[in-house]
Amino acid sequence: MEQLVQQIEDHRREIAAAEAATPEAVEEFRIRYLGTKGLVKNIMAEMKQVPNERKKEFGQVLNDFKLFVENKYETLKENLSGQQAADTVSIDWSLPGNPVPVGTRHPLNIVRNQIVSIFRRLGFAVAEGPEIEDDWHNFGAMNLPEDHPARDMQDTFYIHQNPSWLLRTHTSSVQARVMESQKPPIRVICPGRVYRNETISARAHCFFHQVEGLYIDENVSFADLKQTLYFFVQEMFGKNVKVRFRPSYFPFTEPSAEMDISCLICGGSGCNICKHTGWVEILGSGMVHPNVLENFGIDSNRYTGFAFGMGVERITQLKYQVNDLRLYSQNDVRFLKQFTGVVG
Ligand code: DAH
Repeated sequence: MEQLVQQIEDHRREIAAAEAATPEAVEEFRIRYLGTKGLVKNIMAEMKQVPNERKKEFGQVLNDFKLFVENKYETLKENLSGQQAADTVSIDWSLPGNPVPVGTRHPLNIVRNQIVSIFRRLGFAVAEGPEIEDDWHNFGAMNLPEDHPARDMQDTFYIHQNPSWLLRTHTSSVQARVMESQKPPIRVICPGRVYRNETISARAHCFFHQVEGLYIDENVSFADLKQTLYFFVQEMFGKNVKVRFRPSYFPFTEPSAEMDISCLICGGSGCNICKHTGWVEILGSGMVHPNVLENFGIDSNRYTGFAFGMGVERITQLKYQVNDLRLYSQNDVRFLKQFTGVVG
């Protein structure tokens, strides 16, 4: 029996090394080792020579060997079919791939980014604040005491459960947040979404976007305000655009001014967008009211500052001639696709 076991070992080595590159070779392997007159059957026949008491032991060796040969046969078959698949499926790597649709930036984001990057070049840092605000940061700190009629200028959404919380009506609330946590010199730009209780139409929406600016230091003057905003307009709309300042009123600035630019749609000759005046208002601004500075412990005798706030929808409307505010939030791809590739 030892001799038989030795033979089996030799066969094992020979079979382990066997290869088959064609279906015929695999079939030859099967006939030779697993066929009715094949090696496995022959060795099985040797069983009768094995003494009874060792039959069990030898049976195990034989079974093992048979399994080994069968596995090898399966492997040879698999290798061959894998090889054939690779041979027959020819891939043309030069064909164009399936197109992957590329999204676009939203026009409001494009314009917001452009505004921010212009002011960053002037040394303004970006600051943000919460959209759910308290009365103090949105109104009180900005010099609108509780009974102040100017509160009616902005129709506010209050939170039912606790009316001392509200959806901020302007990004001026971020001015308050910044002055609370930073000391002058302060130079920030604050982009964000704001909310007002308005009926939705082509010209009004219950939410929109603003960018606020705040600059506080020693010796900041109205001339700095004018030059900064003039620079912004030229960068944003081009060198030929004219600006003008009109006196205005905001509780948080004194003096206050609104800034107009010459109408980009008609070039100043008069059209629907500029209501035939040749000018369009783009922002509110002014010198920070001393009460606002003092609310945050900033010495108004030593420090002065200017602030401004602009609507991103309005700037986008002028830049890309968008005539209906609702387009910004309807998610109509025919509108959004027009901004493919616009950098911002
Ligand atoms: N918060 C004002 C608004 O929403 C805009 C504004 C005006 C902001 C004058 C300012 C400013 O910082 O100085 O209508």
